[in-house]
Amino acid sequence: MSTFKAPKGTYDLIPPYSAKYLAVRDAIAAPLRKAGYGYIETPGFEDVNLFARGVGESTDIVTKEMFTLTTKGGTNLALRPEGTASVLRAALEASLHKKGNLPVKLWYSGSYYRYERPQAGRYRHFSQVGAEAIGAEDPALDAELIILADQAYRALGLRNFRILLNSLGDKECRPVYREALQAFLRGLDLDEETVRRAEINPLRVLDDKRPEVQKQLVGAPLLRDYLCDACKAYHEEVRALITAAGVAFEDDEKLVRGLDYYTRTTFEFVHGGLGSQSAVGGGGRYDGLSEMIGGPALPSVGWALGVDRTVLALEAEGIELDIPPATSVFAVALGEAKPVLFALVTELRKAGVAADISYGGKGLKGAMKDANRSGARFAVIAGDRDLAEGVVQLKDMESGDQSPVALADVVEVLRGKLA
Ligand code: HAM
Repeated sequence: MSTFKAPKGTYDLIPPYSAKYLAVRDAIAAPLRKAGYGYIETPGFEDVNLFARGVGESTDIVTKEMFTLTTKGGTNLALRPEGTASVLRAALEASLHKKGNLPVKLWYSGSYYRYERPQAGRYRHFSQVGAEAIGAEDPALDAELIILADQAYRALGLRNFRILLNSLGDKECRPVYREALQAFLRGLDLDEETVRRAEINPLRVLDDKRPEVQKQLVGAPLLRDYLCDACKAYHEEVRALITAAGVAFEDDEKLVRGLDYYTRTTFEFVHGGLGSQSAVGGGGRYDGLSEMIGGPALPSVGWALGVDRTVLALEAEGIELDIPPATSVFAVALGEAKPVLFALVTELRKAGVAADISYGGKGLKGAMKDANRSGARFAVIAGDRDLAEGVVQLKDMESGDQSPVALADVVEVLRGKLA
């Protein structure tokens, strides 16, 4: 062991376990790629104010959870706690929105950082795959994103998840509701911090999980009853489109999410097997974010799915992903056969066959152990005598059958057998 360990709240992805993460990322990205989303990559850190303004000054993410740093030049940066603000910043910077191609549909995959109290499913470094559709106000776009996330989870085999859906209203109706809620909250017996929160961000109080708070929230005004006609109609259309697609969801009037930029549609994917950190993904519409970070009005919608929690959800459901072994053919060279088999392995790889060879001068027993461990379907074994006869021994690792094959034919024979 080294003197160092992975920092608190982080963990390493090591083979063969890491293959699951690649497979999950691919599975989430696949439906997005087929729906016209282009891949975007942004830096791991940004101007701290992008998140302060975008995600919200009073959110937990900004007040407590950002990893911030000051450069030698005096610039204040933050490791990105989420992707939406960065992606929108990048789209605006590249003027993607000016090219008459709205909505701009983008997907991303990467590492995010939040200084949270670590627990199962909650880390300080985690991974998301996300999608953002920028610059269109169209219920079909909200529906498309929810359907694509559902498709990704189903393709992975997940079944024990629910989709919670809500509308947070817009700049017309939310302020009216906010005031009504604040008036209600002022009448409750709350601790000092919650009283403060009720003044800054009253909707977040609805999200308070403590029973003594929840008990008092019975009878709180519901945003549903305050939605303006436009928001109501919009929400009904989103619901109708998702329903028509056969995607089941639940209306959750108390779903507020932990980021301030949301307007209208908000949703969360929650998994039944994860304990308290049950949200495997979430998202919604953020019609005002572009203006909040200095851009033009660009109504947008998006989501991010947590890769770490999706992997935990797969484990909770006992789902084994169909991950093909990394190696199809493993070469075992005896005596002077190493250079010949090494060349053969290179040739196999060029021909598209995943191939590996035993290293470190092992004998037959050790090298065959390597072959077993690699998960290869076939082993190619050769010693001096085989080479003198112009053959290698081809061993089927499943049946144990072994037979000589002419060295000149072995690439074609293996390609045929593996096809
Ligand atoms: P979020 O709900 O903060 O939304 O995060 C999305 C997902 O990332 C969560 O559902 C969870 O699976 C995962 N996640 C968040 N924090 C952690 C953590 N500390 N450890 C492990 N996993 C975590 C957003 O980030 C928004 N940007 C989503 C969005 C995109 N909204 C619109 N567009």
